[in-house]
Amino acid sequence: MFFKKKQTERVLPRHIAIIMDGNGRWAKKRSLPRSAGHVAGAKTFKDIARYCNKIGLEYLTVYAFSTENWKRPKDEVEGIMRLLRDYLIDAENFKDENIKVKFLGNLEVLDEDIKALIKKNEEGSKNATGLNLNIAINYGGKDEITRAVRDIVKEGIKSEDITEEVISQHLYTKGMPDPDFIIRPSGEYRLSNYLIWQSAYAEYWFSDILWPDFKPRHLEQAIDEFNHRNRRFGGV
Ligand code: IPE
Ligand code: IPE
Ligand code: MG
Repeated sequence: MFFKKKQTERVLPRHIAIIMDGNGRWAKKRSLPRSAGHVAGAKTFKDIARYCNKIGLEYLTVYAFSTENWKRPKDEVEGIMRLLRDYLIDAENFKDENIKVKFLGNLEVLDEDIKALIKKNEEGSKNATGLNLNIAINYGGKDEITRAVRDIVKEGIKSEDITEEVISQHLYTKGMPDPDFIIRPSGEYRLSNYLIWQSAYAEYWFSDILWPDFKPRHLEQAIDEFNHRNRRFGGV
């Protein structure tokens, strides 16, 4: 007896998180400076964000700079900050695209002009109804949880009142659904301190593609695979 497999609609994850990795290796392969890899990676980021908005994704959270990335040579860090600045200045264009931008991480230590631009962008896009685009800058999952604990203590919340929900509401991602799909290109199989609390039940997709080479079709491949995952959440 044969049963015809029922054709079901493809579902989109609600929240995709991407670790935008492999810029340096992409540049090295071409005998270019690492900074050229970051320039190419920034372009990929814009293309992928636009694509996610187009297909109607609710949340995209990208890892742009980690709390550990300060260990890199000064000129590389400055180059990345310059790209961030350019992006923020350019993001006026994003307004027409109806994308709501938010920055996750310890932004305090960033340069004053960058902080001002971030504020302007968040304010300016707050009424957008399309993609929620979160950009993680100076973000570290352990740092985020440490800050949450400090805030909870400062607010005087009683220990018996501290629930998972209370902790979630003290993270940078408060009010957002947890990522259900985490994508990491570049052939590394780790989280590198990314969304460690929020990704407790995420699905993962790894690939050898270097981030500057990542195209919408790769995202489509990943989403197709997401559709074949059997998510049980501890049940049967
Ligand atoms: C990711 O690419 C960008 C940042 C971490 C800012 P990398 O710069 O880590 O690229 P690889 O891993 O050296 O190839
Ligand atoms: C993770 O990539 C951080 C970002 C992509 C922003 P890294 O290249 O810094 O991670 P590791 O060092 O390989 O773990
Ligand atoms: Mg890397």
